[in-house]
Amino acid sequence: MARVLTGIQSSGEPHLGNLLGAILPALELAEQHQESAFFFIADLHSLTSRKDAQSLQKSTYEVAAAWLACGLNTEKDLLYRQSDIPEVTELMWYLACFTPYGQLKKAHAFKEKSKNLGQVNAGLFTYPVLMAADILLYDAEIVPVGKDQKQHLEITRDLASRINHFFNESIFIIPEPHIREQVMTIPGIDGRKMSKTYNNYINVFWDEQRLRKQVFRIVTAPTPLEAPKDPDKCTVFHLYSLVATAEETEELRKKYLNGGFGFKDAKELLFGKILERFKEAREKYRYFIENPKEIDKIFQQSAERAREVAVKVLNRLRKALGFPPR
Ligand code: TYM
Repeated sequence: MARVLTGIQSSGEPHLGNLLGAILPALELAEQHQESAFFFIADLHSLTSRKDAQSLQKSTYEVAAAWLACGLNTEKDLLYRQSDIPEVTELMWYLACFTPYGQLKKAHAFKEKSKNLGQVNAGLFTYPVLMAADILLYDAEIVPVGKDQKQHLEITRDLASRINHFFNESIFIIPEPHIREQVMTIPGIDGRKMSKTYNNYINVFWDEQRLRKQVFRIVTAPTPLEAPKDPDKCTVFHLYSLVATAEETEELRKKYLNGGFGFKDAKELLFGKILERFKEAREKYRYFIENPKEIDKIFQQSAERAREVAVKVLNRLRKALGFPPR
């Protein structure tokens, strides 16, 4: 028995990087474990960068619909909004009082923006502490994430050990990150990490026309059609290999190496493969986006179940701190 947990921000549309780097591996792990997995929309984290209620809400439903479309089992696993669990912000405060300033100063989300301190709010600075609270509050053991979250997991593990050591008792479980080599950094259409920030993402739930247009925007080398091409230096090939079977990928590799096969042809293949691979998910996604009340019901039921665990774990720390139980 082991609890799988992970979260995705509601700061934009769910993209292929989120799907391949987090959602699909997380759902696969959840299936392998009997215990309910905890999946959530990190809407409080999104506030560090966005304050617009409408777009935050829209994105919350889009991310939730993506989880459900990809097959989240609502009978067993949870899908909740981080902001529906008041215990998480309470725990964050306790954890913050155990977090050295120097550790947060080195955290990469802050470091990247620290050249422009005027744009940094305290929420962004303490982002990793809230993330630690997200994980420790539910006794999570396995946390599937992309490579960009590795440092945050290290901070979480440090904090849990520090507190256990301080009270000389096992208050928190030390979680293990689960980062799959093959999908740890999915490239975007410009070859950099696929990210909402870089606006270089592909959303497989877009309508066909928009999706095709974005696939055709993927940057490729100026190699002439007849010339052989290096598949390992091509984003189109890389993305194809992540959505196609091993045999299909091998076939495409040969076409690249033989020459006489253009990037346009490769993009057409990638577009078709995305449609094929996500056909069922695209239909389910549309259903959930058109029926947000179903998502609300799942949010509500999941939050109740999550809070049952949260209160118990929080009380372990409250007791050690000398506060009465909730
Ligand atoms: P977020 O919302 O930026 O991304 C959600 C998940 O998607 C992964 N990911 C990628 N993986 C591979 N290639 C990419 N190009 C790519 N882009 C995104 C991320 O690594 C992540 O796993 N801080 C987190 C959200 C969070 C969280 C948590 C995660 C809040 N609390 C507790 C796990 C546990 C974040 O900003 O993810």
